[in-house]
Amino acid sequence: MSKQICLIEGDGIGPEITQATQMVLQRLAPDLDIVRAEAGLAALEKHGELLPAETLEKIADAEAVLKGPLTTPVGKGFSSINVALRRHFDLYANIRPVESVPGTRARYENLNIITVRENTEGAYLADGQSLSDDGELAESRIVITRKGSERVIRHAFELAQNLGRKKVTLVHKANILKTTSGLFLHTGRKVAEDYPSIEFEEMIVDNTCMQLVMNPERFDVIVTTNLFGDILSDLCAGLVGGLGMAPGANIGEKAAIFEAVHGSAPDIAGQGIANPTALMLAAAMMLDYLQIDRAGDQLRQAIRQTIEAGDCTTADLGGQGNTLEFTQAVLSRL
Ligand SMILES: NC(=O)c1ccc[n+]([C@@H]2O[C@H](COP(=O)([O-])OP(=O)(O)OC[C@H]3O[C@@H](n4cnc5c(N)ncnc54)[C@H](O)[C@@H]3O)[C@@H](O)[C@H]2O)c1
Repeated sequence: MSKQICLIEGDGIGPEITQATQMVLQRLAPDLDIVRAEAGLAALEKHGELLPAETLEKIADAEAVLKGPLTTPVGKGFSSINVALRRHFDLYANIRPVESVPGTRARYENLNIITVRENTEGAYLADGQSLSDDGELAESRIVITRKGSERVIRHAFELAQNLGRKKVTLVHKANILKTTSGLFLHTGRKVAEDYPSIEFEEMIVDNTCMQLVMNPERFDVIVTTNLFGDILSDLCAGLVGGLGMAPGANIGEKAAIFEAVHGSAPDIAGQGIANPTALMLAAAMMLDYLQIDRAGDQLRQAIRQTIEAGDCTTADLGGQGNTLEFTQAVLSRL
């Protein structure tokens, strides 16, 4: 029976990179039933709301979702639709792998780091945000729970075990944030006892930033809270040639949303020059999740070969190709 996925184009470069990714998906998994839905600015235009009920229903009905980036205004305006989706479907684990590929602007060879970011709690949510009337005092609340920490840390260990990885590094700031970051750390120490074959390491977030820049080869799987994971995963993307190379998966018990780590890149939107690699790599993660035999590996291999050959790579990777030319070069290898 064919599997149903929901495709959300998103804003900015979203339509360009989702179209490119749909082309490779149709080649690799022609039986996939692709249902389209709108969210973000496109939904606002068509339905008068940023996240229509119809979209939520389509996501709930699909086995997985492939989503383009969604714009969130800075400092004012509406709250993030991404955060709303993660909360609505309780997508507690955000998996962000990076791998260095020759032919990119990667700073290091042979990096293969997976960041597992807690996705539903913590400072990133900015719960209870307020600004005093005189504009002199801003506040927000940080909530961390044992349950939320345990499920994501366990997810990281299970992932490490299934992929034959050797080490999980828990990143925290429990020396200063003794209660919130402390609860995450103490929960991690307990969970680690259940996985004696995997090395468990603890590291303070500021040191982690330095170590990632100077000695990134020492990292394998990183697990951390929401805001630290947001920042560290972009740092990891920078190590392997930039945001154009970094995919992500938001996983919950009942839904899974696959996307690029990068945003809607308004500075290059509509020019046909965006790098579709990150979304294609997210699609490969989705094909793994859907257990479509070997399709994810085939896609990763075709992308790797295309980039290594310098065949029509986009400007962010130092090449001169555009979105469509790069996509055709990948298609020719499938
Ligand atoms: N998951 C998401 O939907 C998501 C993630 C991050 C940011 N955003 C939103 O995206 C908007 C823009 O954010 P930003 O400018 O801080 O970050 P961004 O990731 O959109 O862009 C940062 C820089 O990277 C470049 N870039 C990003 N993706 C690229 C690609 N595929 N190919 C080539 N170059 C690429 C951009 O041109 C820009 O110079 C904001 O509204 C933000 O809230 C959405």
